[in-house]
Amino acid sequence: IFELLVKGLMRLEYRGYDSAGKNTTKDNNQDIVLIKKKGKVKALDEELYKKDCMNLEAVLGTHFGIAHTRWATHGEPNAINSHPHRSDKNNEFVVIHNGIITNYKELKKYLNSKGYEFESETDTEVIPKLIKYVYDNRERDDLSFSTLVERVIQQLEGAFALVFKSRYFPGEAVATRRGSPLLIGVRSQHELSAEHIPIQSSIMTTKHTFDQISLCSVTGDGKGMEYYFASDASAIIEHTNKVIYLEDDDIAAVVSGKLSIHRLNRQAGEDPVRAIQTLQMELQEIMKGNFEAFMQKEIFEQPESVFNTMRGRICFETNKVVLGGLKDHLKEIKRCRRLIVIGCGTSFHAAVATRQILEELTELPVMVELASDFLDRNTPVFRDDVCFYISQSGETADTLMALRYCKERGALTVGVTNTVGSSICRETDCGVHINAGPEIGVASTKAYTSQFVSLIMFGLMMSEDRISLQGRRLEIINGLRTLPDMIKKVLALDKNIKSIADELYEQKSLLVMGRGFNYATCLEGALKIKEITYMHSEGILAGELKHGPLALIDKDMPVIMIIMRDACYTKCQNALQQVTARSGRPIILCCQDDPEVSKNAYKTIGLPQTVDCLQGILSVIPLQLMSFHLAVLRGFDVDCPRNLAKSVTVE
Ligand code: G6P
Repeated sequence: IFELLVKGLMRLEYRGYDSAGKNTTKDNNQDIVLIKKKGKVKALDEELYKKDCMNLEAVLGTHFGIAHTRWATHGEPNAINSHPHRSDKNNEFVVIHNGIITNYKELKKYLNSKGYEFESETDTEVIPKLIKYVYDNRERDDLSFSTLVERVIQQLEGAFALVFKSRYFPGEAVATRRGSPLLIGVRSQHELSAEHIPIQSSIMTTKHTFDQISLCSVTGDGKGMEYYFASDASAIIEHTNKVIYLEDDDIAAVVSGKLSIHRLNRQAGEDPVRAIQTLQMELQEIMKGNFEAFMQKEIFEQPESVFNTMRGRICFETNKVVLGGLKDHLKEIKRCRRLIVIGCGTSFHAAVATRQILEELTELPVMVELASDFLDRNTPVFRDDVCFYISQSGETADTLMALRYCKERGALTVGVTNTVGSSICRETDCGVHINAGPEIGVASTKAYTSQFVSLIMFGLMMSEDRISLQGRRLEIINGLRTLPDMIKKVLALDKNIKSIADELYEQKSLLVMGRGFNYATCLEGALKIKEITYMHSEGILAGELKHGPLALIDKDMPVIMIIMRDACYTKCQNALQQVTARSGRPIILCCQDDPEVSKNAYKTIGLPQTVDCLQGILSVIPLQLMSFHLAVLRGFDVDCPRNLAKSVTVE
């Protein structure tokens, strides 16, 4: 079980990795052992190995453990603040938590007044203390573990996925969620006899007065059934592909090896069952293979991932594009007053990258919005708006909040995600799955190019009956057909890019400049560089150069310029002149065989030329590769950059 938990956590590390912990019990013993460690899961594993040697006996033969890898929201990353958190020194109740408890200060104050002492700075710690309080003040002795949990979550505000364990309920596990994702893997040695688990009614309703990030646990009866609780499927996929997604306020309990689910305040008309779904994800899809890092593997996967995004959706004979998840809503989308495309980080850049072509193909006003800013502004949203949510994980809290905000105002909501069953998938009216395959590297690469292609396909679908746009559509569809081969050609430039990285890696800054269809490439390239190399990097709109950034240019400032043969070509050449006139020594990303541009370059990276609106898919790849090589040369962990997480499920 130790190995299983540690492996599961390692697969969840993309969600956060600043500290980790686990606990386990010997089956016939009520003692709970807690082991925590600052740093990555590997550090926990080493600690376990040490402890294992001393405690081998206590550890062997156990059937239930919980484990957690944290991305700090409240309290610095250290062993005390890491999960599991406990009710008291005897570990009577222990909990792992993903999310944020927003009313923890009030709860803490109340529990303090009742004599409960806190050891960590986390919001989470109120949960084990609260369940102990409920237990200590129970009116009957026969209250079940899930009833206690139900009473606890009635007091909690914020977002949570929780797994509880207690010495008073040996071998039992109780899990629940609200806002944060949680699934149950089901493994059986025999064929599963049911396709769903019935939902039981709430047990009680009496009200008592009175950080982050991932979790993974396992329990079973040792007789053929096993249950795994996890934040997402990558932690458990090697054990089972049968999963149940819990809904908000579901409480799942495993007692004597049997799983039951009941709901807090079950309403009439609610779905009476939770289906057991079969996932198609393969373990090898999430393994690193021969690459040095997941990010590198994912960069090199782009010919296939982009192809998979298009597979079965574009008919190259008839030039028809069908996105199955949108077709029933197309009429409504065509009638809308505007499109609002919302995301964070790289996903936002995919929106910026496709804005111009979406405006052209849909003939609608298109707003692109960073989810956090969109919410800060209380942006007016109307019933006849169509809002797109771009998110690799489908779990980013800011994006999810923006989705709920627009839903409340009656807009049609469309998800563009890479994770089937994610919160954004489930809460939107319709959507597109980008089919890029699991992305593990924290710095997003293949998800970006697949989001890009998905949004272009949406534009093509919207413009199918516009006669005036047929020539343009045909050009883009042909461009998409050859895109995977073109990506392969760009990837073949890796050595050239590495040699440029060899020259640049000791620099402090790196500017990336361009405009038009390639402005988003600059933003995304600069984001990759800052995320994993920790160099200062800025994506600069070349049109703004003379309004400020030109002051940064001298012979020592490294600058990458993107100059493609598109409508902005001449304007970009002007920017180039302005840079070289200030002794700047630009590294230029341009089309192959462009002597005019190359002669002014300090170094050139020549790219195959495609349709203007697809060029950004090709031009971002050298910057992905560049950031990768710079990070390796600077000695950093490419897949797990400091302070960041793959999926930021807190606001
Ligand atoms: C985090 C990640 C970024 C990512 C952003 C949006 O900040 O570190 O790489 O672009 O979240 O994530 P999403 O899953 O919504 O695309």
